[in-house]
Amino acid sequence: GLPARVRIHEVGARDGLQNESAVVPTEVKAEFVRRLVDAGLTTVEATSFVHPKWVPQLADAEQLYPMLAGLDAHLPVLVPNDRGLDRALALGARRIAVFGSATESFAKANLNRTVEESLAMFTPVVARAKEEQAHVRGYLSMCFGDPWEGPVPVAQVVRVCRALFDMGCDELSLGDTIGVATPGHVQALLAALNEAGVPTDRLGVHFHDTYGQALANTLAALQHGVTTVDASAGGLGGCPYAKSATGNLATEDLVWMLHGLGIETGVDLGRLTATSGWMAGQLGRPSPSRTVRALSHK
Ligand code: HMG
Ligand code: MG
Repeated sequence: GLPARVRIHEVGARDGLQNESAVVPTEVKAEFVRRLVDAGLTTVEATSFVHPKWVPQLADAEQLYPMLAGLDAHLPVLVPNDRGLDRALALGARRIAVFGSATESFAKANLNRTVEESLAMFTPVVARAKEEQAHVRGYLSMCFGDPWEGPVPVAQVVRVCRALFDMGCDELSLGDTIGVATPGHVQALLAALNEAGVPTDRLGVHFHDTYGQALANTLAALQHGVTTVDASAGGLGGCPYAKSATGNLATEDLVWMLHGLGIETGVDLGRLTATSGWMAGQLGRPSPSRTVRALSHK
């Protein structure tokens, strides 16, 4: 069966904007996050406390985060290491996300570490965040295919998932970083995780839409008991360290499907579409979301 309600983890301001070549002024980012919260999104990933040379698009995290004070939503931030956690905690962040990789190639490209070295880097970060009563999300990238290594064996993904839960992550988001997954693969991975004792209610799914499979993959995950779905307003996004990654599943496309299925999201689709239309204007290019385009031409 399908869930009655889905929690959308909105990543447009982070996963979306980290991959835009246009320089987006900090005030525009703040307005974007405010409008997303106003559209009913309850979890809006705000930015990353990573090395500014690695992701220059989010180098204004120190300026942006305080501008979001008082918003009635969870505003998680990405944190790769102790230095990132220091920066996030200093600004009062209460929700952080570490981000690992199921493959060696992407661990190297994204974190300059092996898989084991990156897990060792996260361990003290997660422990300290938990001591500070922060909520910790773990991301796992390349859960299906990797641009350098090809299809990723399910057992390899399960192993790193277990390691992230064992170090104390509260939830884990399964990333199809380059958007190559298909629904059967999604169900096979979820079945293997279930068999390995990973609780499905602590899993989220994070699909990029490169091959147009993100919605089908989402439906497959919902049928398997997943109720947290990552999406990016207007379909912004990609990943600067994974060639061939395109934007995330568009939040509007997701909401259109979920509402059509009678599944609650709390999102006002009209407000959300208006926000993505406005952001597309700021970026100087139309939204790739089919739903944004359809509703904008009504
Ligand atoms: P490194 O070069 O190995 O860093 O990068 P290091 O640990 O050797 O430190 C070198 C210098 O960087 C030091 O300064 C540190 O202080 C500084 P120095 O002593 O030389 O003057 N430094 C920092 N400065 C500010 N903030 C920090 C920080 N850390 C170190 N946090 C590192 C290692 C992890 C830092 C780097 O690889 C990095 O920042 N990577 C981030 C890449 C990234 O953000 N990628 C995108 C997010 S992941 C994603 O999009 C996938 C996802 O959407 C899911 C999916 O789709 O699959 C989540
Ligand atoms: Mg992503």
